[in-house]
Amino acid sequence: MTKEELSNIILPRHIGIIMDGNGRWAKQRGLKRSEGHKEGAKVFRAICDYAAEIGIECLTFYAFSTENWKRPADEVEAIMNLFRDYLFEAQEREEENDAKGMRIRYIGDRNALPEDIVNLISQLEAHSAEKNHITVNLAVNYGGRDEILHSVKEIATKVAAGELNPEDITLKNIDENLYTAGQPDPDLIIRPSGEYRLSNFLIWQAAYSEFWFSDILWPDFTSDDLDKAIIDYSKRNRRFGGV
Ligand code: FPP
Repeated sequence: MTKEELSNIILPRHIGIIMDGNGRWAKQRGLKRSEGHKEGAKVFRAICDYAAEIGIECLTFYAFSTENWKRPADEVEAIMNLFRDYLFEAQEREEENDAKGMRIRYIGDRNALPEDIVNLISQLEAHSAEKNHITVNLAVNYGGRDEILHSVKEIATKVAAGELNPEDITLKNIDENLYTAGQPDPDLIIRPSGEYRLSNFLIWQAAYSEFWFSDILWPDFTSDDLDKAIIDYSKRNRRFGGV
């Protein structure tokens, strides 16, 4: 996007991206599915950098859902390895990410993840907590229903302890106990690969999100595609239930 285009549009504050189509991309080339994920991880890095460059405040990438454990063990392992590689790299390139003002957050249920990955996540989250140019949320072992359940359990614990009256529970209480607590709801959700569904991604937070779909497979997604999605978004008339 040119500087002029950028100055003329309202940018979404938070963009959610469902990185879909890696398997089909690999199949089209006669490659293993894991090769598609590998390429997808490269695109993830490039889109992070580009979004930071144009001034997006928050990005959430759906990398692995609570349902993805059903995939063959070698594919699950390949995705976890790519995630691990990225976390290692982020640690190694700490200075570079700090200079970009990048805050890295994990969203999902970390209990089922390998211990070394959980440790890497905690270190990166702690290190980057005060950075404020862009927040990158990594949704791994993430499910929207699971997240709502988690929030409800937190609230129920407060009720059981006598700290909260059931009549006083508000939408804000639910928000505050989601993995995304304190972050703006996604303004724009992008799903490539020709699928038209949310697949349990940010289902609570997406109540008023705008959607952008495309047939492009995630490994082929470029910064030009992100521009197109953002420009389309900027032309939408958001009413949030009003007139
Ligand atoms: C969906 O495509 C993609 C995934 C389930 C995995 C996405 C993971 C990465 C891009 C890499 C690891 C992540 C990080 C954070 C570095 P699909 O396999 O369902 O594609 P298909 O529908 O064509 O089969």
